[in-house]
Amino acid sequence: MSTPRAVDIIARKRDGGEVDAESLAWLVDGYLDGTVSEGQMAAFLMAGVLRGFSDAEARWLTEILVASGDVLDLSSLRGPTVDKHSTGGVGDGTTLLVAPLLASAGAQVVKLSGRGLGHTGGTLDKLEAIPGMRVELSSEEVLAIADSVGCVVAAQTGELVPADRELYALRDVTATVASRALIASSVMSKKIAAGADTIVLDVKTGDGAFMATREEAVALARLCVSIGDAAGRRCVALVTAMDQPLGRGIGNALEVAEAVELLSGPPPGDGAGSRLAEVALELATLGLAEGRAAAGADHDPEQARADLRERWASGVALETLGRMIGAQGGDVAVIEQPRRVLPQAPVQRSVTALEGGVVTAVPARAVGEIAAALGAGRARKGDTVDPAVGVELRVEVGDELEPGAELAVVHARDDAAADEAAARLRDLVALGTAAERPATVLETVALG
Ligand code: URA
Repeated sequence: MSTPRAVDIIARKRDGGEVDAESLAWLVDGYLDGTVSEGQMAAFLMAGVLRGFSDAEARWLTEILVASGDVLDLSSLRGPTVDKHSTGGVGDGTTLLVAPLLASAGAQVVKLSGRGLGHTGGTLDKLEAIPGMRVELSSEEVLAIADSVGCVVAAQTGELVPADRELYALRDVTATVASRALIASSVMSKKIAAGADTIVLDVKTGDGAFMATREEAVALARLCVSIGDAAGRRCVALVTAMDQPLGRGIGNALEVAEAVELLSGPPPGDGAGSRLAEVALELATLGLAEGRAAAGADHDPEQARADLRERWASGVALETLGRMIGAQGGDVAVIEQPRRVLPQAPVQRSVTALEGGVVTAVPARAVGEIAAALGAGRARKGDTVDPAVGVELRVEVGDELEPGAELAVVHARDDAAADEAAARLRDLVALGTAAERPATVLETVALG
């Protein structure tokens, strides 16, 4: 093959053609070593966003990204090894429930998580709200904790998918994030490099998600599942609604407290009505059923669900979360008394409804932005977050309210921040005369 030229590859994509695997690899490697300029890579990405990428291109790109760095070796774990990924949302503390649930039922979970950016939260920030908790661990520590406890949630170890880091940073500033193939290859390269046999994905759709429509979310889920399968992993996805925040707490300590309190109570269906708990149980069920099947057992989601419900109800899942927190240096008393151990904001302001009615919308993105503005999130990488602040919602879509009912409690550093957030929240929660309770778990996407 003659040496490719970046300009020809860009032109091919501009004209709607498919770029072969060798040319794609040459382009990405060239971008990393400086042979291909930032302008050329940006032009290629934009051509791809506008003209589309084939599923084969998404698969090749994933392989190229994985090959750019290390792959975590989980072969020392007894397995089944299960990983979980959410495409990001507001009040989405599912990892804090799913990881201990899976571990309590015999799976091993090495979850490499990220930090929050913009209106979405990040699991590492949430965990760091627990006094003493360490998330920067060596590969040896990660494997040792996964082996002894069954789950560990930490920052990326080693140098996994450096090409994704470089490309994502460029996409972020060139309006080229919004491409199904680019998102799928970015997400799946990180999951494949993280080493688990089974990958369960939570693809969000709606106002607070990357994928605004259900159709787009299902298409992204299908592409991710097929990429996982091509890489020899068992992969299954849930498509879930992110029109309103998933949990009641939005903010780091508030989300940890909610997760602990949910795991301390009965599992969903036993009189408990949390949408966060429902999504967590469903993700854990898919992960456990697939993980057991990957390890040679029958594929039996009903058995997996029953086992998880039992671990939840008996307190074993909560105890597992406590052991993980202890192994990572955190204060295990958080399991008994989360609200006492976790940092509290100095100002707590109740937000009440001026009139009565049925809640018709609690827009996820805007609530996430309010929590971030209070200090729970960061506008730029490297900003520090305030673990104590955020919003605790008291209502969700479909609730019937009397005038004066509490809509939310704002947790703020000072009065001015509390006043501003309270005013914005009161405007945001839309009231009408009728609203159905919307479904949260929308679809399961698996191969075949
Ligand atoms: N999350 C990722 O990891 N990558 C994307 O491209 C989008 C969301």
